[in-house]
Amino acid sequence: MILNSTRIFKVRPDLSGCDDMAALRFAADVLKNGGLVAFPTETVYGLGANALDENVVEKIFEAKGRPNDNPLIVHLSSYEDMHKYCDIQNEYLPKLYCFMPGPLTVVLPKKDIIPKSVSGGLDTVGIRVPQSLIARKLIELSGVPVAAPSANVSGKPSPTCAEHVINDLSGKVDVIIDGGSTGVGVESTVITLCTQVPLILRPGGVSHEALKVVLGKVDLSPSITAPLKDGETAFAPGMKYRHYAPETPVYLIKGEEKNVLGFLRTKASNEKCAVLCYYEDLPFVCGKSVYSVGGKNSPEIYARVLFACLRKTDSLSDINAIYARIPESTDGISLAVYNRLLKASGFSMINSDEYKNRIKIIGLTGPTGAGKSLFCLAAKKRGINCIDTDKIGHEILQKDTPAYRELSETFGRKILDKDKTISRKKLGEIVFSSPEMLAELNRITHKYISLRVCEIINEYEKAGCKAVCIDAPVLFESDIPRICDCTVGVIADEKIRCDRIIKRDNITVKKAAARMSAAKDTEFFKEKCDFILENNQSEQEFLACADILLQKIESMLKW
Ligand code: TXA
Ligand code: MG
Repeated sequence: MILNSTRIFKVRPDLSGCDDMAALRFAADVLKNGGLVAFPTETVYGLGANALDENVVEKIFEAKGRPNDNPLIVHLSSYEDMHKYCDIQNEYLPKLYCFMPGPLTVVLPKKDIIPKSVSGGLDTVGIRVPQSLIARKLIELSGVPVAAPSANVSGKPSPTCAEHVINDLSGKVDVIIDGGSTGVGVESTVITLCTQVPLILRPGGVSHEALKVVLGKVDLSPSITAPLKDGETAFAPGMKYRHYAPETPVYLIKGEEKNVLGFLRTKASNEKCAVLCYYEDLPFVCGKSVYSVGGKNSPEIYARVLFACLRKTDSLSDINAIYARIPESTDGISLAVYNRLLKASGFSMINSDEYKNRIKIIGLTGPTGAGKSLFCLAAKKRGINCIDTDKIGHEILQKDTPAYRELSETFGRKILDKDKTISRKKLGEIVFSSPEMLAELNRITHKYISLRVCEIINEYEKAGCKAVCIDAPVLFESDIPRICDCTVGVIADEKIRCDRIIKRDNITVKKAAARMSAAKDTEFFKEKCDFILENNQSEQEFLACADILLQKIESMLKW
C-alpha cells in the first residue's frame, strides 16, 4: 500500500496554536474514516488506526512491516472508557488509576468488540490512556479507540520526533502530526493483570518501584533482562523480536568506571565507531562521534535521548560499531533504558574489566614543594611518561584556543590584556572574588585540561607506552581520578617545602608562604590517595623510595 502523499501538521503540545484544533479535527476524521495517523504521545510517536476496524488495523502491520502475532496497544482518551473494551473486574486495576493518563499499558481480558487482529490472536488486550494532550484530544475527537504501535518500521528504534516518523513512514500513512520531541523517550510500561501477581512485561515510563508502592507486589518478566531461551514463549509477544536496533552493531559496556572510560577512550581514538557516554565522560573520550546521553545523575535524559542517539549514530556512514555505557543502575527509568539497550545490542555486553592491555594511568598529586617533579623523574627512569597538567593549563589559555574563547565569552573582555591575551592576574582578581566564579573557571579549564590529557594519553598508548603518570596539583578537585588506576600523593614537612620553594623559585619567605597556603594540607592527601610518599630526605633517598613504590604499582597493575 503506497499513499501518494502524507500530510504533515505541526501542532503545539499545549494546543495553543490557532490552527492546532483544526489539524486535530482533520486527523480525527482520517482515523474515523479508516486512515492511518501518526501522532505524538508522551513516550514515543504512535501509528494510529481505528481499533474496531479489522481491515484498517491490517494497514498498520503492512506499513510497519510488523509480524501480525505482535499485539497492538489500544489507546483511549479516558480511563472511564476501559469497560467498553476489556473486562475491568480486577482487584488491581483501580489502584492503577493514578497512572492513567500516563505512560502505562494495562493488559486485561479483551471484550469481543476488539478484533483478534488487534490483540495478535490473544484473548487479552493492552489498554493505555496517554498523558499527551495532543494524543488524548485526537482520540477523543475521532470517537473511536485507537490501536497504535510505535510509529517506526518494525525493528528500528521507536520515533521520538516527527522527523523519525517521516524517515520511516512517509508515503505509507495519511497524516503525521508533528508535536515536537516526546518527553519520556521510551515506551510505556506494559503490565499484565491477567496473572496471579501483576507482572511487568516491558519496563517503561512508570517505574517498577512506583508500581510496587500502589500494588504491593509486582513481578518483573525475566525476558526484560535476559534473552529468551529456545522454545520459551514471551508473555509480551513484542519482547521476542530484535528491537530498537540500528543496523550498526551495538555493544553495551560495563565494568569499573576507570575501565569503562579507558575502553571507550581507546576505541574512540583507534576505531571507526560511535560512543554513547555520560556528559561528564566527554573530556575523557575524545573522538568525532562521541555523544552525550545526559549527566550520570539524570537517567531520565538517557531515556529521552536514547532512540534519537541510536538513529543518529546509525546514520553515520563511516562507523562499524556503536559502544554505549550501561546505565548506572536498574532502578526507576534506568530499567527501561537498560532493557532497550539490551534489545538494541542483541544482548552483546562487553566487560571492560577484562581489557587488560590498555595503558595504565597513575594520578600524581601533592602540595607545592613536596617533590612531585622528583617522582616524575623516577617514573621516567622506569619508562613511564609524565603529563604536566600545570603546563597544559598554560597552553590551553593561549590566544584563540577553544578554552580561550569559552573563558572570554564567560568572563568578558575584562580578563584580556591589551594584546588580547588572557591576563592571569585579571582573571584571578575576578574569580577569587566569588566562589561561583571560581567554580565556573574550574569547570571550563578542567574540561579542556582533561581533553588534552586524554589526547596525550592516546598518543602515548599508540606509541606502545605501558603506563603514564598525570602530575596534577589539584587532582582531586578535577575529574581526572575517574580515569586513574591508582593515585599517589607526595607530601613533605612544611619547613622543608618552604626552603625548597625559596630555592627553586628564587622568592622570599613571605611569597613562598603565600604559595603554600593555597595548597591543601597533608591530611587531605593522606585521606584521598591510594599511596603516600613522604619526602623529607635527600633527593637520592627519595628517588629510591619512589622507585620501590613504582615497582609495587607495576606489579599491582600488571603492565
Ligand atoms: O508508549 C507506548 O506504549 C507506545 C505509544 C505509541 O503508546 N506504543 C508502543 O506500542 O510501544 P508497540 O506496539 O510498539 O509495543 C507494544 C508492546 C509490545 O511489546 C506488545 O507485545 C505488548 O506491548 N502488548 C500489547 N498487547 C499485549 C497483550 N495483550 N499481551 C501482552 N503484551 C501485549
Ligand atoms: Mg514498538
